[in-house]
Amino acid sequence: MKKMSDLRIIVLGAAAGGGLPQWNCGCLNCSMARDPASALRPQTQSSLAVSLDGEAWAVFNASPDMREQVGANLALQPRRLRHSPIKSVVLTNGDIDHLAGLLVLREKQAFTVFSTGAVDQIIAENPVFRVLDPELVSRTIVSIEEPFFPLPSLEARLFAVPGKVPLFLEEGEPDLAVESEHTVGLELEADNKRIYYIPGCAMMNDALGRRLNVASGTGCKTGRRMGHMPIGGEGGSLDALGTLNIRRKIYVHINNTNPIWRAGSERDSVESRGFEVGFDGMEVRL
Ligand code: MLT
Ligand code: MN
Ligand code: ZN
Repeated sequence: MKKMSDLRIIVLGAAAGGGLPQWNCGCLNCSMARDPASALRPQTQSSLAVSLDGEAWAVFNASPDMREQVGANLALQPRRLRHSPIKSVVLTNGDIDHLAGLLVLREKQAFTVFSTGAVDQIIAENPVFRVLDPELVSRTIVSIEEPFFPLPSLEARLFAVPGKVPLFLEEGEPDLAVESEHTVGLELEADNKRIYYIPGCAMMNDALGRRLNVASGTGCKTGRRMGHMPIGGEGGSLDALGTLNIRRKIYVHINNTNPIWRAGSERDSVESRGFEVGFDGMEVRL
């Protein structure tokens, strides 16, 4: 009988843009994360790695901390001279925390970048990304809802979620209810196992509720104006996702000021409702 593969998901970075601590922030969380004696450990910026065989890996969002993330995860390290297990990078938006890691992945290594046309345009229009040799690094534009394969047998689909353009493209107050190619969630399926990865999503709506009401594993986060859902309160992710039939719900892309990073009532209320707080190095096997 054919062995069913393990779907492995590693949280490479659980923090949102800026990381924890953020370089110019002295909030309680950031101060604690700088103190080696505190219980709060530093967290790198937003990225996941996924594999079906432990050998070939797809990375979901390329964070500026990619270099440290490869260093911290044996699975992503070269097996021989000039080699990388990273076969593809899938981007869910064009913010710096999800894009700048592409620059870390220079050095003549072949891989494929998958993104929407809107995110691809940001790469195409910024000459600094030409550092990725087009002979080796291919960019594939995928349409919303079009199935594609970041790894053999790993089927993926991008879907638009309420969000906004990247910070550096904002002109005035952005409309946070807009669904476009600028902010997408990701559905992954292999061997009848399914996960959703939604690192940025400004609000829940009916279409998203219907989609998520069938499977497991997600993350949405705080700060509506940043294009992130609040956790608590009306319209927050605790209420929006708490009633859905989702086996595991894991917060990722968490802002450095968020109180759920540390012990206390906010963390308790998240955990008591069955949500988990992601952390660098967390691994989920399905
Ligand atoms: C964030 O996570 O706060 C945004 O993506 C902003 C950024 O990283 O530039
Ligand atoms: Mn971000
Ligand atoms: Zn801070």
